[in-house]
Amino acid sequence: MSQPIIKAENLIKSFKSGSSELVVLKGLDLSVSAGEFLAITGRSGSGKSTMLYQLGLLDRPTSGTIEIEGLDVGKLSDEERTRFRLNELGYVFQDYALLPELSAFENVLLPLLMQGLTKLAAGEKAKLALEKIGLSSRFNNLPSQLSGGEQQRVSIARAIAHEPKIIFADEPTANLDAETAKVVLDAFLSLNADGQTIVMVTHEPEYAALTHRIVHLAEGIIEEDGKNH
Ligand SMILES: Nc1ncnc2c1ncn2[C@@H]1O[C@H](COP(=O)(O)OP(=O)(O)O)[C@@H](O)[C@H]1O
Ligand SMILES: [Mg+2]
Repeated sequence: MSQPIIKAENLIKSFKSGSSELVVLKGLDLSVSAGEFLAITGRSGSGKSTMLYQLGLLDRPTSGTIEIEGLDVGKLSDEERTRFRLNELGYVFQDYALLPELSAFENVLLPLLMQGLTKLAAGEKAKLALEKIGLSSRFNNLPSQLSGGEQQRVSIARAIAHEPKIIFADEPTANLDAETAKVVLDAFLSLNADGQTIVMVTHEPEYAALTHRIVHLAEGIIEEDGKNH
């Protein structure tokens, strides 16, 4: 078998408040293959977001190791981690996290410029990403001038524009009605069909069922890890 794109071993995450300690992730092991579309499910409070944040380098685990393509990311400095996130990973959040004063195009463009691309190269990539996601006619709209589904698709365009190794999505359809959620899921399925590795948190079983594999969390432990098809 080829090397996994993500390999997490004995991942523990606890939060301290005063003298007490809340252990949220209680020793998780997980391997994700390149090209996989993985769903993380579980009840509210089971540790889904915490798990995604550790795997996506948005937080540091209390102990345990995470390798991405064989690189032990725990050994990176804060600056190297920031660069790694910007260059290699993409994120989609429940609330879209778009900058309200920037147009759809500028929202996708900004992280590309932060990566150090020239205006011309960044503009090309932003344009391609928005086209890929079916938003060609919305380049100049502000987020407030877009529907929830369109805003989420702008955030997906932002996540894919730099061709990341992995997309991490935390409840990307939670604020959308069923019809719009389906459009967003179709966008993920189409990206995955083109080879994009995706790790998506969702509490909707019917959406999780569309992915390759479901990891079900219960109180910080992987209760089930099974293939869909
Ligand atoms: N930064 C934090 N500080 C303290 N407790 C936290 C923090 N983040 C999450 N938690 C706690 O960890 C548990 C799991 O949270 P979370 O991962 O957000 O669950 P889920 O995404 O499955 O709903 C909850 O009890 C939550 O209150
Ligand atoms: Mg959550």
